[in-house]
Parts: sequence; C-alpha cells; structure tokens
Amino acid sequence: MSVLVCPRCSRKHSVNPEKLPVAKVVFARCKACAHKFPVQAAQLRCIQAEKAATSNCQNSARKICVTLSKGGVGKTTTAVNLSAALALAGFKVLLVDTDTQGQSSYMLGIKPEAGLTELLTGELTAEEAITSARKNLWLLGGGRSLAGVKRIIDKKAFGAECTLSEAMASQDSQFDFIIIDTSPGWDQLTVNVLFYSSEILVPVALEVMPLHGLSEFMKSLHSIQKYRADLTLNYVLPTFMDTRVKHPQHIYAQLRELYGAQICKPIRYDAAFCDAPSYGKTIFEFAPTSRGAEDYRELVRRVSDTKAVA
Ligand SMILES: Nc1ncnc2c1ncn2[C@@H]1O[C@H](COP(=O)(O)OP(=O)(O)OP(=O)(O)O)[C@@H](O)[C@H]1O
Ligand SMILES: [Mg+2]
Repeated sequence: MSVLVCPRCSRKHSVNPEKLPVAKVVFARCKACAHKFPVQAAQLRCIQAEKAATSNCQNSARKICVTLSKGGVGKTTTAVNLSAALALAGFKVLLVDTDTQGQSSYMLGIKPEAGLTELLTGELTAEEAITSARKNLWLLGGGRSLAGVKRIIDKKAFGAECTLSEAMASQDSQFDFIIIDTSPGWDQLTVNVLFYSSEILVPVALEVMPLHGLSEFMKSLHSIQKYRADLTLNYVLPTFMDTRVKHPQHIYAQLRELYGAQICKPIRYDAAFCDAPSYGKTIFEFAPTSRGAEDYRELVRRVSDTKAVA
C-alpha cells in the first residue's frame, strides 16, 4: 500500500497502486474535504516497488547518480574512481553504467558479456547481468545496445520513468553503494536514473561557462523533484581544477557562494586520468600517489561520512 496526501486538507489516504487504472495520471477525490486532485499512478507503483525491495532488509544501498547534461566534465572518471575507492575502503559497491558510450567498463579494463540492456529488456536477471570487476566492486555495464532500450522505454504506455527502479528493486539489499554513471544530455534514461537514485553528485568542470550548464541542469532537476521530493543534490564536485591559472579559482569561488554546503574539495587537473583508462586501470592502480588519487580519496571520505538520505 502507498499513502496519498490530499494537497488541500493534508488528510492521508491508503491506496493500493495495483488497483489504479492503467493511465499516466488518474484523479483522486479526498474523502475528508472532497477535493479532486491528480495522482501519478506510475510514481506510486515505483514507491511500492522500492518499499517491497527494502522491507526485508535492514540496510538499503545509498544510490548516488553522477550526472550533468554537459559532456566531458568528468562524470565517468568520477563514477569509476569513486566506486573503486569505496570498494577499496571495504564497502560493497555496484557501478551502473547508463551511457551508450560504455566507458565505465573500458576504464575498468573489462568486457562484460551482458549488462544493463539485458536487464532492462528482461533477458537476464540483475544477478545474471552484473559482472564482478574488482574485490568489492561489481559492474552493470552500459554500451551501444542501450540506444535500443531507450526506444523501448519511450514507447511504454505508462510507468516509463520507473523502468530502471523496477528492474533494480532486488539489488538494494545487496550493496552498500550503488553509483550510477549517466550520459551527457537529457533523455528517458536520465529521467529513469533520477527516479531511481536518492542522491545526486554533479561534477562541474572549472572551465568555460560551467555555471550556465549547471543552472540548466538544475531546472530539469526541479521538474523531477516535484515527483521525487526525497531526491537531493548532496555533492557539487569541481573538476579539472588548474591551480596555476586564475579563471578556475574564480569559478570555484562562485560555486562556493552558490552551493556552500554541497561543495566538495576540487579534483585537480591530472594527466594520469587521461592515461589510466587505456591501461584499464583506476587512478589508484595506475598512479596511487598522484594528486588525482589523493583528491578522489578525499571525496570518498566526504561521501562515506555523509549520512544516507532517509
Ligand atoms: N581531473 C582530471 N584531469 C585531467 N583529465 C581528466 C580529469 N577528469 C577527467 N579527465 C579526462 O577528461 C576526459 C573526459 O572525462 P570523462 O569521460 O570522465 O567525462 P564525462 O563527463 O563522463 O564525459 P561524457 O559526458 O562524454 O560521458 C577523459 O579523457 C578523462 O580521462
Ligand atoms: Mg561519461
């Protein structure tokens, strides 16, 4: 059962989402004040799927998506190295690659036989689609085949935004962290990731015009938060920090003013990040004493110190 709250009188009503009509939006009438209001049936089904997945377990994974519509800001570098560092710290981590570029597996130097596509099309279960990548680290790989999945999701008559949540429901109790890498741009899969995640980490490259990209993204995010009030932007991570020039420092200062509480210590520019992927190594394997490795260790301290969003 899910709970519906009347927007006029705040009276709570229990409702079974499975009994709602198969339509995107249905209308409910409050038994207390007779107010009629729209209800997203698919959203209620999502909540129910999540509750079912977590009801039998004490621990539920923290689901952090690494996302920003702008390309090349360090999303995949961050998702991979954050996941690797959390795994090295002893947490059980699943990295989910939702990008058609499939860069996460390339950066980890593995070629999974199956991945997110097979899970979302129902060909494989989550357990079958997940590949072991390192000690404590598992990967649900992305790749070109996800383009076809996006078309399938687009054609769904209802509940399209909950496709990922429903497919992943069994995995919450299996991991401490589920880190989700996203593609640049904004599409149905990005919306699915935001309906699935509980926390957001936004990498912001301290280069040209980052604030514009960020404010555009924030507008799109607010439109999702109307349906996912518990989805929070917890981390704004400055990337490509070049301490030799003034421009990045200036942008960093602006970011700190705008997002004081969420701002993380910047990831400095480090050429090792460009070389490590061609060896299929994380920054901790390729250059463990580099400043890049040091910066991601600092990020992990920050992320693992933060309490999970309830
Ligand atoms: N701190 C850094 N210093 C130097 N190079 C970096 C740094 N972070 C990432 N890179 C390099 O910048 C490039 C883009 O990074 P990455 O692929 O992580 O960005 P992305 O946001 O995932 O891109 P896309 O939007 O295309 O998915 C890569 O070649 C990566 O190795
Ligand atoms: Mg990427």
